[in-house]
Amino acid sequence: MCADVNTIYINGKWSAAQGAATIPVNEPSTGEVFAHISRGGKPEIDAAVKAARAAFEGVWGSTAAVDRGRLLSRLGLKIAEHAEELAQIEARDTGKALKLARSDIAATARYFEYYGGAADKLHGDTIPFLEGYQVMIVREPRGVAGHIIPWNYPAQMFGRTIAAALAAGNTAVLKPAEEACLSILRLTELAHETGIPAGVLNVVTGYGEEAGAALSSHDDIDFLSFTGSPEVGTLIQKAAADNHVPCVLELGGKSPQIVFEDADVEKALPVIVSAIIQNTGQTCSAGSRVLVQRSIYEEFIAALAKRINAVQAGPHGADLDCGPVISAVQRDRVQGFLDRAQADGIQVVAQGKLDSRAPAGGYYVRPTLLGPVDIAHELAQDEVFGPVLVAIPFDDENDAVRIANGTDFGLIAGVWSENGARQIRMAKKLRVGQVYINGYGAGGGIELPFGGFKRSGHGREKGFEALKEYTVAKTIVINHK
Ligand code: NAI
Ligand code: MG
Repeated sequence: MCADVNTIYINGKWSAAQGAATIPVNEPSTGEVFAHISRGGKPEIDAAVKAARAAFEGVWGSTAAVDRGRLLSRLGLKIAEHAEELAQIEARDTGKALKLARSDIAATARYFEYYGGAADKLHGDTIPFLEGYQVMIVREPRGVAGHIIPWNYPAQMFGRTIAAALAAGNTAVLKPAEEACLSILRLTELAHETGIPAGVLNVVTGYGEEAGAALSSHDDIDFLSFTGSPEVGTLIQKAAADNHVPCVLELGGKSPQIVFEDADVEKALPVIVSAIIQNTGQTCSAGSRVLVQRSIYEEFIAALAKRINAVQAGPHGADLDCGPVISAVQRDRVQGFLDRAQADGIQVVAQGKLDSRAPAGGYYVRPTLLGPVDIAHELAQDEVFGPVLVAIPFDDENDAVRIANGTDFGLIAGVWSENGARQIRMAKKLRVGQVYINGYGAGGGIELPFGGFKRSGHGREKGFEALKEYTVAKTIVINHK
């Protein structure tokens, strides 16, 4: 790992922030400060954008697609070679269980493999036009892309946004989250060693209100990719609008898992549990509402309660079902939802256990199932971003659709039913970016386009759709008469 305060990477070189200002980094499992990162701000963002601009107009702009792809694929292999080291860093920095950190790193490597392979397959098009004309549509990179990402999946988010941006020929300035970015710093070192040219990838650590705001309002970026809270998403979009910069926003959800009376319940139960406890509920696509048909509600909730009661939370190294949440702020936020629910008389149906190895200073919340919850209650409407699952009964298909679509969000949904026609009807009516039938894909599927409706954001990441976002169509009309 690079030296404590030298966590800013611009034009191929590591440096400290002006005045060597730093930010302490906590270990969520213990609550102790175990590292520092540089507190970059406007001067560092300016320098990073300048370097990215020069690389776009220079070395990266003149690198053939096949060579860009090879570099990214090689980085994917290098990440796989360093998988265990990266997983250890990620688990300590975020608090997530080691097994999840390991699968996150495998996914990060896979992003580079996937987009490395895709770089030279971004074909253009031709269009039949008037006699004597030839028309070509070529896809060009947008230019300098700004990336602002959250703390819940730092390594995966690095893969998801940086691999796609670079594959399409853009250069990047990344502002990772101040709460957790150590895996990203190591990944950046690996990118350097792989030979990604100076200026193509630049990383500025710092606070959102400082480095993040400087990046999103910069007048020399061409594109913005943001994942985080809807509130900051609004600020990002406003800043982007001032400079006419297009943006992709991924802002979380309140995703439903819908269980019909004809569902294969034994198949559904473990998936429904893991969709909410994965990463301690801190997943944008967490399945945080379970909608259950009234005819099986009592029986189903009793079976679900048994499984939630058996969930164990503890320090990342204990490798249990859940770790701590990311910070004291996040723990208090989640606990606030639970306290208000109690005050409102909502029943706690089940609660997981806190392992005895969990240090007192760590940021732990017990995984909790509550219900039935009124659909107007904040627990049924707002993103908790913790291991909190709310149960809501419904009467029939129309009622399920009404409740499922009845929040400001629209990210993903799961439908459990053995009836094929119903599966299709539901998939068509749900206002979400991904629908899973008899399954749930929180966070998974590098190949699968992903993104929201409504307050969950707009634009698509993952798969080839992401490459469309990171490029722009240029129409070339040739008169050959
Ligand atoms: P956040 O939206 O503040 O942070 C996300 C990123 O935006 C970080 O890199 C942060 O430094 C940056 N940022 C913050 N303020 C900024 C600003 N004014 N200008 C530019 N960049 C800025 O999210 P936070 O505070 O970490 O979490 C709050 C809530 O947001 C969570 O409880 C959760 O509900 C939601 N969230 C959703 C995520 C998702 O994956 N959809 C990820 C993280 C949080
Ligand atoms: Mg914030």
